[in-house]
Amino acid sequence: MGVEHMTVIAIDGPAGSGKSTVGRALAARLGLGYLDTGAMYRAVAFAALRHGIDPADAEPVARIARQIRLEMDGDGSVSVDGFDATIEIRGPEVTRAVSIVAAHPEVRAELRDRQRRWVEQAGGGVLEGRDIGTVVFPDADAKVYLDASPEVRAARRSREVTDLSYETVAADLARRDALDQGRTHDPLATADDALVVDTTALSVDEIVDLIVASLP
Ligand code: DC
Repeated sequence: MGVEHMTVIAIDGPAGSGKSTVGRALAARLGLGYLDTGAMYRAVAFAALRHGIDPADAEPVARIARQIRLEMDGDGSVSVDGFDATIEIRGPEVTRAVSIVAAHPEVRAELRDRQRRWVEQAGGGVLEGRDIGTVVFPDADAKVYLDASPEVRAARRSREVTDLSYETVAADLARRDALDQGRTHDPLATADDALVVDTTALSVDEIVDLIVASLP
């Protein structure tokens, strides 16, 4: 009996590049499941803060990553140990802590394992993050790297988080870009074989069309 091929599509890029919107639309178009891996790092940061753990303290944060029960629905809701954290994981405290949490190699190893298990169980899927095409699924069927100008990315994010000023969101984005690109373990990077799309002036449908046209 042959092993059935699972389709895996990796979407990477910085915050505000359009990964979530495009990832969801692409998954719906192809009839695949969708996993927002940034939400997993946010869930770990949320759980650490809730337990009074310093996000910089690698060992207890890694223990949290291994122990939490994480439930993620296709509609974007995230529950941590049975607590609905959908709103909190997008809040300013978690957003401040998440790049520090994501820099710990033990945390990354645990979430990488969970992401691979998710794909096994779902029979493939669309995954978005920072290191999906470079580290988690280097053999993905398609790798996409989305980018946009810092101004457009900040404008998109500040429309999502309406209680913060554009300036605050832009400064936070620049800080996270630097941390995510400069960290030692699995930094944000473009895979050699990725389709690079500048989403600044494209609609979601146009981007999805480009990706679908590039599929093997
Ligand atoms: O996409 P996002 O802004 O929700 O991601 C939150 C943080 O998680 C981001 O600052 C970097 C980190 N992250 C990561 O290191 N690796 C991933 N695969 C996804 C996110």
